[in-house]
Amino acid sequence: MNSKRVFLSQSEKPKAWYNLLADLPEPLPPPLHPGTKQPVGPDDLAPIFAQELIAQEMSPERWIEIPQEVQDVYDIWRPSPLVRATELEKALKTPARIYFKDESHSPPGSHKPNTAVPQAYYNKKEGINRLTTETGAGQWGSALSFACSQFDMECKVYMVKCSYEQKPYRRSMMHVWGGNVSPSPSNETKAGRQILAADPDSPGSLGIAISEAVEAAVAREDTKYTLGSVLNHVMLHQSVIGLETEKQFEIFEDTPDIVIGCAGGGSNFAGLAFPYIRRRLEGKDIRFVAVEPRSCPTMSRGSYNYDFGDTTMLTPLLKMLTLGHTFIPPGIHAGGLRYHGMAPMVSLCAKLGIIEAAAYHQLECFAAAQLFAKTEGIIPAPETAHAIRATIVEAEKCREEGEEKCIVMSFSGHGLCDLGAYDRYFAGELDDHSYSEEKLAAAMADLPQVD
Ligand SMILES: Cc1ncc(COP(=O)(O)O)c(C=O)c1O
Repeated sequence: MNSKRVFLSQSEKPKAWYNLLADLPEPLPPPLHPGTKQPVGPDDLAPIFAQELIAQEMSPERWIEIPQEVQDVYDIWRPSPLVRATELEKALKTPARIYFKDESHSPPGSHKPNTAVPQAYYNKKEGINRLTTETGAGQWGSALSFACSQFDMECKVYMVKCSYEQKPYRRSMMHVWGGNVSPSPSNETKAGRQILAADPDSPGSLGIAISEAVEAAVAREDTKYTLGSVLNHVMLHQSVIGLETEKQFEIFEDTPDIVIGCAGGGSNFAGLAFPYIRRRLEGKDIRFVAVEPRSCPTMSRGSYNYDFGDTTMLTPLLKMLTLGHTFIPPGIHAGGLRYHGMAPMVSLCAKLGIIEAAAYHQLECFAAAQLFAKTEGIIPAPETAHAIRATIVEAEKCREEGEEKCIVMSFSGHGLCDLGAYDRYFAGELDDHSYSEEKLAAAMADLPQVD
């Protein structure tokens, strides 16, 4: 079909999420208790998460029905469009066909509400009225604030301090939806006070903010914790992205050869990729590229190990690609990609060679984002810019090799609250960061010993 963008009708919308756990060629190593180092059971997770989400975390079912109440909220912005990036193709003079799945249409402006809404819904259904969480870039915190407002719940967000200072309008969005946001590390929790005592100027990290949010959740009966990435149930909810994309490609009468997404904790990438990984496991020839910043190279330079999800070692141990839970990346503008670990399912796929990792510096990503904005019109989030950079690299390869490949990327979010970062880029105030082997080895030395 020769159209620029494709939507779906109500009847074509996915009614169930896809669970890659059912099809993985190897079993996923179980999460371990941080104290005993034995596999955790549902009871260990019950103080932190809603029962239904714990069940989904461990579910062997391939398809899990999307509750009608969740579909009703999804209707505000879903199905999101699949768009052919014709103008970018022309600018690159590439024979490749480039498509992007535009998740920037959601109220908070990213893919994050795809899981924030079901997480709020299941908690509310179980009588919980208050949720805590961490946020890096502010996208997840604003998504959860939006979701809580839909189900009349309170929302408490610990926002990584450097993002809190860089992104005042993300804070404002959370306030509009009724969220309560504190810069992390904060004085409100033991974990925050411990970090501040050691380094009063700590820029914060997602690992620290997770420690604060988990502590704040277990402190109150009426409160549970929610995580915006990494866990299996988050990957499950995000599969709605790839499931819609498959149907939209049928309308375009095309099919992707290369699937690309940026990865912080992995859910944006997984959301688009996992339904296609199912096809690859059935024998289809598809490449997958997960993109990360060179300044936080979890997949390209991390090791596959059990590690804590947070800095102060409160969470269960997950088997994942990790830079070590004490690794604190520099305050790059792609705050949503500053995480030391990677979703266990994405990590296992990387270990099995199903997906590839690519890492880029922030300056080349901002240049790619500007080209995208000048051709396709939409101003990308700095995280999304990493996927655009990788897409351009692949499209240029097609040009050099004369190959007409079909490339699809997840356009995970818009950058309208990141204009300060663009200003700094244009003013020449942003740097590229890389790590020496010594620095990476130092954080890796703190990995927990598991027999
Ligand atoms: C716009 C955007 N894209 C991608 C990501 C990374 O998401 P994930 O942790 O799901 O990999 C984030 C995280 O905040 C984000 O805000």
